[in-house]
Amino acid sequence: MFITLNDILPEARHEGFAVGAFNTANLEISQAIIEAAQEEKSPVIIQTSEKAIEYAGLDVLYGMIKAVAAHVDIPVVIHLDHGKTLDLIDQVIETGYTSVMIDASQFPENERLRVTKETVKKARAKGLSVEGERDQLRGKEDDVKGAEGKMSDPEEAKKFVEETSVDAFAVSIGNAHGKPLPDERLDLDLLKKIADAVSVPLTLHGASSTPEDMIKKAISLGIAKINIDTDLRLTFTGALRDVLSNHPEIYDPREELGPAREAVKNMVKEKMRLFGCSGRAK
Ligand code: G3H
Ligand code: 13P
Ligand code: ZN
Repeated sequence: MFITLNDILPEARHEGFAVGAFNTANLEISQAIIEAAQEEKSPVIIQTSEKAIEYAGLDVLYGMIKAVAAHVDIPVVIHLDHGKTLDLIDQVIETGYTSVMIDASQFPENERLRVTKETVKKARAKGLSVEGERDQLRGKEDDVKGAEGKMSDPEEAKKFVEETSVDAFAVSIGNAHGKPLPDERLDLDLLKKIADAVSVPLTLHGASSTPEDMIKKAISLGIAKINIDTDLRLTFTGALRDVLSNHPEIYDPREELGPAREAVKNMVKEKMRLFGCSGRAK
């Protein structure tokens, strides 16, 4: 069953759990995410970045996710991650995604508002939900390595959400994309101030390798969607490397990729238990 962020995130914020949002660009990771959700009886957000779409093709990714999800009966959001142009927003709406993220953080203030508002208008007309990002996170962002980032300001966040009417807001509170930065830590006092100012569900990007106690505290303060990509890549690559290094006799991609798929599935299940979304499928 396909749903939007609005069918699950307000409940998550209200009841103190978060829904996992996992990135995919291939068959094995898509199956791992959706099968994990089925086994955990959890709602799930499966998302594709612009680079994933460039790699696999929009119609191929969408068709694949839809076909994998047809085998399960839990709620699935098909979400665009970090959409940066209105062109791409148009294409994913047309293709059948149920939700989009517009990441306008690299634009100047006026443009940021215009592009986000326009996305909301286009998406809402077709029944999709919209996640917005105002301030760029630290860490790897597209090909920019070690981006400085800018922390969210509670008053600016409030204004941004009110003016754009996005359904969910991505916070920048010290979280960073990619492998952990040496000094990476979440500013939970800042998160509390943002949560007091902004009533829509909050989303946490770059949550790979974030300590469990910080994740739990962030959820208790209003984080309702948690993005994980790097942990899946590290798990997938580790399992694949293990097969390739220890079994030079294997030359069947199914035998190489099968264990990687299983390892990712187990990791997604662990994340779902940590986020509290296990058992929340309706
Ligand atoms: O937030 C970034 C996601 O991890 C997507 O990364 O642009 O390399 O696909 P990507
Ligand atoms: P990580 O790769 O750091 O888990 O970030 C994922 C993310 O935020 C996707 O939008
Ligand atoms: Zn992100």
